[in-house]
Amino acid sequence: MKRRDAIKLAALAALATTYASAYDEKLIVNKKKMQIKDSANPTELELKHSPEIKVGVVDAKGYSLVEVNIGQKGIIHPSDDKHWIYEIELLADAKKVASVSLEPTISRGYLAARVNTKDVKVLSAISKCNLHGEYSASITL
Ligand SMILES: [Fe+2]
Repeated sequence: MKRRDAIKLAALAALATTYASAYDEKLIVNKKKMQIKDSANPTELELKHSPEIKVGVVDAKGYSLVEVNIGQKGIIHPSDDKHWIYEIELLADAKKVASVSLEPTISRGYLAARVNTKDVKVLSAISKCNLHGEYSASITL
């Protein structure tokens, strides 16, 4: 490898490290998978962390707009400097199809993706709160 290539590679590695650690990983203190205790009567905390999945119209290429908001029944999860949704994953029939990494304060729990839902039976989303763990929700298409 030429010296110039080695310098370029080192610079790219440094950039990648910078982007990967935009927030302090030590702030993520809970990675437990949480369950809604009584699905007929979810608590405010459970509603605040539960993904709400909406499927929009299909575009000309056959992809539906899928939107995931974190928080149900209008109870939106906060995005503060020490408490926020740091990641959302979207799954189609248990296979990951999209994910988003979010920063505290500047962005809040939301994901949008165009998904070919033609053969999909279940869409699921997982929200990851740095303090309260991972909550999931699913809808059947
Ligand atoms: Fe939370």
